[in-house]
Amino acid sequence: MLKALRGTKDILPADVALWRKIESSARDIFALYDYKEIRTPVMEEASLFIRSIGTATDIVQKEMYVFSDRAERSIALRPEATASIVRAYLENSLGQEKAVTKLFYIGPMFRSERPQKGRQRQFHQLGVEAIGSDNPLLDVEVISLAVRIMRELGIKDFNLNINSLGCRKDKARIIEKYRKAIKSRLDSLCGECRERYKKNVLRIFDCKNPGCGKVVEGIESGGFLCDDCAAHFESVKKGLSSVGINFIIDPRIVRGLDYYTKTVFEITQKDLGAKDAICAGGRYNNLIEEMGGKDTPAVGFAFGMERMILSLEKENASEEPGMDVFLAVTGQGMLDKAFHMMIDLRGRGLSCDIDYNEKSLKAQMRMAEKLRAGSVVIFGEDEIKKGKISLRDMGKREQKEVDIRDAAREILAIKSGTTSERGNT
Ligand code: HAM
Repeated sequence: MLKALRGTKDILPADVALWRKIESSARDIFALYDYKEIRTPVMEEASLFIRSIGTATDIVQKEMYVFSDRAERSIALRPEATASIVRAYLENSLGQEKAVTKLFYIGPMFRSERPQKGRQRQFHQLGVEAIGSDNPLLDVEVISLAVRIMRELGIKDFNLNINSLGCRKDKARIIEKYRKAIKSRLDSLCGECRERYKKNVLRIFDCKNPGCGKVVEGIESGGFLCDDCAAHFESVKKGLSSVGINFIIDPRIVRGLDYYTKTVFEITQKDLGAKDAICAGGRYNNLIEEMGGKDTPAVGFAFGMERMILSLEKENASEEPGMDVFLAVTGQGMLDKAFHMMIDLRGRGLSCDIDYNEKSLKAQMRMAEKLRAGSVVIFGEDEIKKGKISLRDMGKREQKEVDIRDAAREILAIKSGTTSERGNT
């Protein structure tokens, strides 16, 4: 039997309720903060990601799905959305409407990583990009937006870890400092990290090898930021505190993508294990210029949606809403009658279904239970001859005969009764 590709997953009907809850809750919050949705293609020219994410990163070196199309162009399935959004922002001159262009996105991303809990090859991100200001309060807005989404959804036990990589010059100084500090310990690094040492020393932080982790761990960091960037970082920290957001300063956060400058952050969550972030982001003040635009600062984040689901699953054993009414039949010609009533009921906005295979009445009643139907209409030959049907209130476990013309009204009454009872709990 054919199976889904390794690292990809079907999101089955029973799981969809939780996905929709996350999406709709996030959409409501995005509207409050005036972020507008953008949907970019899942494939782009590979060079877009190579230039923006960086040639020495794991994503570009090992994880990108790249293929040649019929015209021999090098195409990539997007491993993330920031680069695509910058491309779309420049291509469509999106910056002209508002001083700060605020965009959000929800969609699949692709990285050929080793699959494990919370790590897939096709996964989904929900994220924002705020393009057009370097004001530290915008960093605070973006981070508080991420925190608000988690609070609204009831995601608990998370830590916000922040750092600043400074401007281009500061980042170069940080890199230089790490190069000097690591030089004498090159022998303790894995082969790949020795390469990273030459190409981009910060990428050693991404190594999953504990030996390499130890090498960078002990290096004294901090004190690299120029006055402007230090003041910027101070304002971000002050702003976060002023809106009641706790954070941990962690100089080891350097992020796995090269475009970051100044504020960077990762949000970890207890249920996901030590290393994996549920959300991550930061500033990328040089990227838009590097992609051919004007000097335009920007900041954003992305949640991993599978990781949101993992941290919510325990509390949200998701219950699909039940059906309003199931139509059961017993006897010749009854299915046709039930079918037409079903069309009428759906027209009135009631959700309903029938058993097209006409199993036994007992089996149909079991099906109605399983579907958590609020009521069941039973079409029996004898009742129909009298112009009647049996109507069972599944909540109260009461059954009565009603005139077929009154059926819709009676079903609605059961539904509103159920709804108001539910509303009172
Ligand atoms: P990232 O850290 O590469 O950043 O990914 C953001 C989040 O996506 C991660 O924290 C994680 O929750 C999720 N994620 C990443 N890879 C996987 C995977 N293989 N399986 C499941 N979840 C995954 C970015 O992508 C940046 N574009 C974020 C950003 C937006 N920075 C500024 N704006």
